[in-house]
Amino acid sequence: MRIPFIAGNWKMHKTPEESIKLAKEIDNFLQENQEIDVDVLICPPYTSLYLLNKELKDRKVLLGAQNMSYEDEGAYTGEISPLMLKDMDIEYVILGHSERRQFFSENDEIINKKIKKAIEHNLKPILCVGETLEERESGKDKEKVKNQIIADLENIDKEKAADITIAYEPIWAIGTGKTASSDDANDMIKYIRSILKELYDEETSETMRIQYGGSVKPHNIKELMNKSDIDGALVGGASLKSEDFNKIIDF
Ligand code: 13P
Repeated sequence: MRIPFIAGNWKMHKTPEESIKLAKEIDNFLQENQEIDVDVLICPPYTSLYLLNKELKDRKVLLGAQNMSYEDEGAYTGEISPLMLKDMDIEYVILGHSERRQFFSENDEIINKKIKKAIEHNLKPILCVGETLEERESGKDKEKVKNQIIADLENIDKEKAADITIAYEPIWAIGTGKTASSDDANDMIKYIRSILKELYDEETSETMRIQYGGSVKPHNIKELMNKSDIDGALVGGASLKSEDFNKIIDF
């Protein structure tokens, strides 16, 4: 049984003070509604992580970073090391987000190095994959996603893979208000599971959680979560207001 997994990617939003307010509103909601059996993760900017871990004592909400370096330390101006994340009790890290691929030139080779490094330090990666609108319209969406998964998970064995979450985020659905239909999202996620089965085995592919991301909102979460293979959501815009995000958590 895969436990539903809802994650908020705050991207480049929220000062430390704003982060504390929002994180507390989410964590309080989880504390007050213990029956909600969902893993809930928030991924604020680095500048808020240390403070959030200090301020939210006995938190239910999980903390994640939006990126990290594939090096432990050294002369890498502007980078954040996995050891620094571990030191702040960070549990998860988003890797390979399409915005990192698009605006910061991250390729599959870099993402594969990051995934290996995260695993080495017991950080759980959320690996993002997804196609452009052009790739979808030309029928190349599955090929694109398959190639990304194979390259990003190269030389990662099945024991380690079980801790990886995949987030299927069609690029054309991110921040656009256009969601993939729940059937299309489920179809791609089933396909991703079949690739994982080929790469590993049935048990591993059934253990790994796969989220959908791209304009997830309170009004469409239920339909997505009702699908057979969608285990959760990676939420951007709607994770920035507790009133929306808490509704999504409580789908
Ligand atoms: P939106 O929910 O704003 O479309 O963003 C999705 C996303 O990129 C999450 O990582």
